[in-house]
Amino acid sequence: MDLDAFKQTAIEAARKGAEVLRSRFGNISRIRKKAAAELVTEADTESEELIVSTIQAEFPDHAVLGEEHGLISGTAEYKWFVDPLDGTVNFTHQIPIFSISIALAVRNNLSLGIVLDPVNDELYTAVSGQGAQCNGEPIQVSSTRTIADSLLVTGFPYDVEENFESVMARYGNCLKASQGARRLGSAALDLCYVACGRFEGFWEQSLKPWDSAAGALMVAEAGGRVTTFSNQPYTVDHAEILATNGPVHEQMLALLKI
Ligand code: IPD
Ligand code: CA
Ligand code: CA
Repeated sequence: MDLDAFKQTAIEAARKGAEVLRSRFGNISRIRKKAAAELVTEADTESEELIVSTIQAEFPDHAVLGEEHGLISGTAEYKWFVDPLDGTVNFTHQIPIFSISIALAVRNNLSLGIVLDPVNDELYTAVSGQGAQCNGEPIQVSSTRTIADSLLVTGFPYDVEENFESVMARYGNCLKASQGARRLGSAALDLCYVACGRFEGFWEQSLKPWDSAAGALMVAEAGGRVTTFSNQPYTVDHAEILATNGPVHEQMLALLKI
């Protein structure tokens, strides 16, 4: 299947969303709380409206699941996942670490992933079976073989209080075993940084499909491994994700077993 038309539309949609984020950065007038630390701003909603309308203008019969507006149903064959602003808490505090994440599943198979970092102008793209790229250049995971030589990254879910012990136990294990365990605040970017070899591994235990779908394909297409904590193959329906460069995967599975 030629996925190029889908890819071009996804890139166009992401760039429109990025314009909104750039103009709203440091300039938000409304912050609503979905939960105690779960925020939504007009940047999230305006970015999503532009991204979704761009996809729908080209492919009106496709299903689209966006974080803020929920599911727009369509044919079962094509389903898009849209995170219009991944890293909202950073964004509201004017920390320039956030992204836009767009993925397409064709007959339930992840086929396309686009992550755009509007601050550093890094556009990550992955097409199933065709590898991953950053700004048009092929990317690949690192070749580091041990956790002791690895830099890791994670995220803490909004419901961290409900799972505090398990989140902290896993964080502690990974922190002690590695060169460091960062928490940047944008799961989609964390995954892209694994894909391009900056980090050896990323894990998080409570993600939604729009957070992880594009980045998971990025890591897989860059030569890495993506599973659940119990080593099941990752699918968008799994909240848990472990994405690594491959050589450190088994070591990380052991660290996440608590
Ligand atoms: C969040 C970020 C964060 C992760 C959270 C996500 P949002 O997405 O990806 O890094 O730790 O679990 O919900 O709310 O900023 O789109
Ligand atoms: Ca997100
Ligand atoms: Ca979001």
